[in-house]
Amino acid sequence: EEKLHMVNLDELENEAKYVIPEAAYYYIASGAENEWTWRNNTQAFNHFQIVPRALTGMQDPELNTEFLGMKLKTPVMICPIACHGIANAEAEIDTAKGAKAAGALFGMSTYANKSVQDVQNAVGDSPRFMQLYLSKNWDFNKMVIEESVKAGFTGFFLTVDALVSGYREANLRTNFTYPVPLAFFNEWTGGKGEGQSVAEMYASSAQNIGPDDIRKIKDIADVPVIVKGVECAEDAMLAIGAGADGIVVSNHGGREVDGAPAPIDVLPEIAKAVKSCDRPVPIILDGGVRRGSHVFKALALGADLVGIGRPFLYGLALGGAQGVQSVIEQLNKELLIDMQLTGCKTIDDIKHAKIDHLDYTAD
Ligand code: FNR
Repeated sequence: EEKLHMVNLDELENEAKYVIPEAAYYYIASGAENEWTWRNNTQAFNHFQIVPRALTGMQDPELNTEFLGMKLKTPVMICPIACHGIANAEAEIDTAKGAKAAGALFGMSTYANKSVQDVQNAVGDSPRFMQLYLSKNWDFNKMVIEESVKAGFTGFFLTVDALVSGYREANLRTNFTYPVPLAFFNEWTGGKGEGQSVAEMYASSAQNIGPDDIRKIKDIADVPVIVKGVECAEDAMLAIGAGADGIVVSNHGGREVDGAPAPIDVLPEIAKAVKSCDRPVPIILDGGVRRGSHVFKALALGADLVGIGRPFLYGLALGGAQGVQSVIEQLNKELLIDMQLTGCKTIDDIKHAKIDHLDYTAD
């Protein structure tokens, strides 16, 4: 396999459209209702401006960073996404390989096609967290948590913003069902975990997730739990008060509440609350990140890592593990340029970079 050639992440979407079956492509690409939130996630980065810095005397910026004790080669991470098998037969195995090669944190979905053991066999040690869609059935949750930890996943994302599926018209038009068995459900049902619709999957998951669930997870496995899907300071405080070890500022890529604010717009207020509370925790931002400058802005406004969703799946479809690696490295390349032009030698320096917030009504 060769590296995937691209000039930017957006052009991958057009190419991926030709290699991913239609219903699966729209499942990936679409958002909820009118898709305003989905579009706005990227556009809202324009509300902030990176102020270039002159005469800094700095050269050779570096991307290495640490997150909850993990040594990473980039602040870009792979968001948990269901069913990588719709993009590539190697599915999460290739994603894990690509993330490892790039030195990036890999978030794996409860709805993955490959098992946690498959991933461990393929990559050995790598920075990786498992994502949890809590089921109503805690025997199932226990199975997911215990097997994940046993297979080298060193923490969890607890997704709290998708208790039911958003109203996704594209899935209704195409009658989308997951075309590749989801490994944990297959195991749970003794090999019958095929062909569910998104709505059916969500119906089996718990809708009443509350603060106590963080403790319940930690009682099964004492590892970090990051709460994914927070869009206001109150919820960040609720999560931290309940024992969360990190939060993801996210609206699920515009797939749940259409009309929800862009993560980048709410990040400053959330970061302020988190950093000034009794037990500050790291912050991840995802949603609409397509450029190195988006990564830069998120880091400068309070994020410690920045997640990408759809683009890596397009990379996976077009180029397997190398495709995933190439997508991360494309963002790295753009980010390094902005670091040089703002005099930021390290990822920590970006956190003190000068950002303007001017209202350009004419763009
Ligand atoms: C997702 N996302 C998601 N999140 C999660 O916690 N568990 C999951 O299984 C999934 N599945 C999923 C499938 C697909 C096709 C997409 C596009 C998204 C949400 C994901 O983790 C992330 O929040 C968004 O994808 C980030 O936005 P961008 O980068 O796709 O714009």
